[in-house]
Amino acid sequence: MNNVFALSASGSAVVIDLTSGSPSILHWGADLGPIESTDDLLRAVTDPVPHADLDAPIKPGLWRENSMGFLGRPALLGHRAGKDWSTKFEIIEARQSANTVFVKAADKNAGLQIEATFELNQFGVLLVNQTITNTGASDFEVTEFNTWLPLPERVSESLDYTGAWIKERQPQRREIQTGTWAREVREGRSSHDYTIAQLAMTKGANYQQGEVWSVGLLWSGNSRHLIERQPTGRTTIAAGELLLPGEMILNSGDSYSAPTIAAAYSSEGIDGITDRHYRWLRSRANHPTNIKPRPLTLNVWEAVYFNHNLQKLTELADVAKTVGVERFVLDDGWFGSRRDDSSGLGDWVVAKEVWPNGLKPLADVLEARGIEFGLWFEGEMIQVDSDLYRAHPEWTLQVGDRLPPEGRFQQVLDLTHEGAYQHVLEQVSEVLSSCKISYIKWDHNRTLVEPGHLGHAAVHNQTLAIYRLFDELKSRFPGLEIESCSSGGGRIDLGMVMHSDRFWTSDCNDALERQYIQRYTQTVIPPELLGSHIGPTTAHTSHRTHSLSFRAVTALFGHAGIEWDITGCTDEEIASLKSWADYYKANRDLLHSGKMIRVEQPNDEAFLHGVVAQDKSKAIFAYAALKATAGSLPNTLQLLGLEAAANYRVKLVEPAGAAFWIGRKAPHWFDGVTLSGAALAQVGLKTPVLAPEQAFLVEAVRV
Ligand code: GLA
Repeated sequence: MNNVFALSASGSAVVIDLTSGSPSILHWGADLGPIESTDDLLRAVTDPVPHADLDAPIKPGLWRENSMGFLGRPALLGHRAGKDWSTKFEIIEARQSANTVFVKAADKNAGLQIEATFELNQFGVLLVNQTITNTGASDFEVTEFNTWLPLPERVSESLDYTGAWIKERQPQRREIQTGTWAREVREGRSSHDYTIAQLAMTKGANYQQGEVWSVGLLWSGNSRHLIERQPTGRTTIAAGELLLPGEMILNSGDSYSAPTIAAAYSSEGIDGITDRHYRWLRSRANHPTNIKPRPLTLNVWEAVYFNHNLQKLTELADVAKTVGVERFVLDDGWFGSRRDDSSGLGDWVVAKEVWPNGLKPLADVLEARGIEFGLWFEGEMIQVDSDLYRAHPEWTLQVGDRLPPEGRFQQVLDLTHEGAYQHVLEQVSEVLSSCKISYIKWDHNRTLVEPGHLGHAAVHNQTLAIYRLFDELKSRFPGLEIESCSSGGGRIDLGMVMHSDRFWTSDCNDALERQYIQRYTQTVIPPELLGSHIGPTTAHTSHRTHSLSFRAVTALFGHAGIEWDITGCTDEEIASLKSWADYYKANRDLLHSGKMIRVEQPNDEAFLHGVVAQDKSKAIFAYAALKATAGSLPNTLQLLGLEAAANYRVKLVEPAGAAFWIGRKAPHWFDGVTLSGAALAQVGLKTPVLAPEQAFLVEAVRV
């Protein structure tokens, strides 16, 4: 059996050492070039033995077993009625094929077996899968099974994201010190507070510079992201599912697969991590842009809320048609007794009260205008005031007889109950068959509190059930797209990416907040998966008022749409919306395939971000003034990522009207200048003095 396996791709590498009988990641980071002698490499990395420690160097391996002398947090925590809590796995099989290493190990005494695969894909993203099987005769409880990767000592800072409703994905950066930094989620969904990926970096790393390591989880339930620095100084990063007590009891022969982790390394700052994730996700055959360009969407929620009325919605569809909208999404309020948010969830039957002739008349209106029809559901929920609850109160996730506290007047439907699962699948299918509906916005508006199924914690199975339901709906209705929404951005994660086509990024349509929310959500989630809508002039969530041009430039960097009662727009606003829609359609292929660049700024007064075509022939940058400038002149526009030696024609673009300038004279390049990629990066362009909360685009086309 080979003792050292090396994988390398796209400038990154992973070396797996099996010499101690258990796998150990000897290196994860930059490519090492040819390895002449694995023996010498092993000699190089063998630790000395300090005083007051065990007599031989401690090599904890991937599973960080206590039996190896390791005293930090083990990868596997579990027991068999109090026994088999400590393991010593021995490798029984290991092989490498192309870019994948497979390892199988067993602890015969403990009655456990682990299978692990490490795949370093062509984009340099390392995917690690681990499955544990109970080969013993009695039940074994898994309480934790995380996947850990080593970080070099030069890593000194961590970056992750926290957040809340209308304020998702706020960055938090801290110095790594001895101890464990844990980001745990117990909401039963990935949550507004979910980091999506956790990053570790060398000191001062930023979007362009420094080394960055990231770990994300392909999972939408409870989760845990960890960075641990041992008293030895050694640092590791991990992610895994957070299992509730008793949630994962393996009967004899049963297995538990930990969620896949996606890990990436970049020597070119955070933008490098982003680039690897985008290229990986975009390489999937079912990635939405590989099926069709992302349709310009109108969601009616902030236009009509629960007031469904065919005439009003037809007027909206007419204006939408004028603007160039391609998909129209009817939101909450069309089913059961759901005339407000106090009742009806669970009854996925069109309400005669508001839709006496069903949804077909609206579907016809949309079809006649060449617009796709999308519909809102929240199928994982149930309300006490619903026909479903009256018929099946036992289909609610709960512990004993006590119902969990309500959230938005609702409870969570127990989809692990086959009857409940089939109820939702069949009712949704019936509606989708009743007329031409090609899109679902699927919501999840509350946290899971006491999520019990027949007394047992059930987040794990509930999460698998929603994946199964989405996959089944997609196979029943070929071409159906699903948007994952959870009070805005409460369920955006790399797991849901694999089962859906779009995320509702945030309920906040305030363009200023969106500049931040989108920037940070886009760390590993590509913009074409993130819904970004032009909202009303005065945002409903924040009551801030923004110009249409600022809202339009902000909404362009995502899967663009509108969420506003555009029947009340002035002619000038409609003309601006139309010109913006045309611009989106003309440029979405670039915006949804290019490399994302976030140009570091010397202060927090502005963001400069852009998308550069993979062949560098064209780029679109946005400059967003977030605050008033401290100096009288704003930051220079440094356009990065272009081909240094090529010339580019660069001009100002304002797809939905001009930004508001407060200077006396504007810079001189607006109508176009030709400069090399090097000059644009090094000298840049002078920025006009913008009022705060204004933005414009700069387009660079290679000549
Ligand atoms: C959630 C969503 C909104 C909207 C409402 C409908 O809050 O995030 O976009 O769909 O539900 O009730």
